Amino acid sequence: MANLLVLGTQWGDEGKGKIVDLLTPAFDVVARYQGGHNAGHTVWVHGKKIVLHLIPSGVLHPGTLCVIGNGLVLSPSAFFRETADLEAQGVDAGPGRIAVSRGAHLIMPWHPLAERASEDRRGDKKIGTTCRGIGPAYEDKAARLGVRAGDLADLRVLREKIDDAVAAKEPLFQALRLPALDAEAIFSEYAGWAEKLGPYLRDVSELLDERMKLGQSVLFEGAQGALLDLDHGTYPYVTSSSSTAGGAATGLGVGPRAIHGVLGITKAYTTRVGSGPFPTELRDDLGRTIATRGDEFGATTGRPRRCGWFDAVAVRYACRVNGVDRIALTKPDVLAGLGEIPVCTGYRYKGAALKSFPAEPWVLEDVVPEYRKLPGWPASLHGAAEPGSLPKTFVDYVRVLEDLVETKVAIVSTGVERGQTVFFDEELRGFVDLAKVRAAAAG
Ligand code: GDP
Ligand code: IMO
Ligand code: MG
Repeated sequence: MANLLVLGTQWGDEGKGKIVDLLTPAFDVVARYQGGHNAGHTVWVHGKKIVLHLIPSGVLHPGTLCVIGNGLVLSPSAFFRETADLEAQGVDAGPGRIAVSRGAHLIMPWHPLAERASEDRRGDKKIGTTCRGIGPAYEDKAARLGVRAGDLADLRVLREKIDDAVAAKEPLFQALRLPALDAEAIFSEYAGWAEKLGPYLRDVSELLDERMKLGQSVLFEGAQGALLDLDHGTYPYVTSSSSTAGGAATGLGVGPRAIHGVLGITKAYTTRVGSGPFPTELRDDLGRTIATRGDEFGATTGRPRRCGWFDAVAVRYACRVNGVDRIALTKPDVLAGLGEIPVCTGYRYKGAALKSFPAEPWVLEDVVPEYRKLPGWPASLHGAAEPGSLPKTFVDYVRVLEDLVETKVAIVSTGVERGQTVFFDEELRGFVDLAKVRAAAAG
């Protein structure tokens, strides 16, 4: 069976949660491969809103196994807050449904504290992180100081690792004038989590291999977006993990050939939360209007998202870096009725045209976007579910975008609900079992 990878092609919040939930009925397993509870993936079902942070966005479909890979950093308190919220809404979030990799690194109490201090120190150069401890947890992983979920299985090992890490952090905490860390208290908190998390812990690489050998299919779910990737994003204004497609292989322990197709989730305009270059940003009332209409407030932190026009240079770059096969275009309904819609087709830097997306943020900060204005579309787009009901000017917009980013659009999302989606069957053939998806979306 074909496995599909779904990821964001911009700076996150493209609507991955909606699309993953929508496509899940065609898959047996949904597996997150990186990030942590910095993510906020929104799913609407019959007027009810559910925001997922750590748990894969397929969890609302009872038959699906949800997997949290070794590439994630996991806060036990955030994880159990989320399972409790789901259970309160009648969703089974127990170990029969969710598997957590023993290799996932744990977010420890010192991580958010160190992160806040680091952001304060950067002053006006701050990254604008979610302050969930994500970056420092990945720092400890790279520094080989991390505590992994599998370490919870042996409390002696856990105690030793906490003692070592606390000793290593001491000089930093003293220099930052932060209160000293209490290894004993931290150990007793995490020993408590050990008992609760134990039943969820699995060898995820082995589990996925077994499932795939049984002929089951996997939907790989990326968090954040390609432009927030640690290597390929707008460094240093990025997250600390590999959100690009390659991250799925390392973040789950599957070979790259297990990924049969890549679906890029792309917003019809652009948003960004936190600091960093954003060439097409609208710093005016129009930007604020789009933010209000699109409800562009962080699903995790509630921060307002910066809004701007569609940037074809950035999305073409993301399609290349990830080998995107098809695009799911989301939120065009937000732009309905705005009149002409500009699309960024190129950048100029110091007077010269740039051939591709620049790697250096200081170059990106200074590029001058070139725009092509396209006719807008009417509000009738909202909620459309059939290709024939899409306004002609919008279909023309899609064709121009496809040419600019050199990738075909296979899905258009026209609202928050599952049924508010248009599928271009011929584009999706070979990637998903559309009959299953359509049947579930209609229900
Ligand atoms: P994610 O992080 O990529 O999963 O995206 P978020 O959930 O953070 O943000 C996307 C927001 O857009 C959520 O509030 C979704 O409910 C909403 N959304 C998704 N698709 C559409 C769409 O086609 N139209 C509209 N108006 N909203 C959408
Ligand atoms: P989803 O999965 C949008 C941004 C933060 C900040 C930068 C680094 O919902 O699309 P971090 O806390 O990760 O160290 O912050 O990355 N960021 C996101 N922006 N959507 C997300 O996730 C994000 N996760 C992190 O705002 O600029
Ligand atoms: Mg989000």
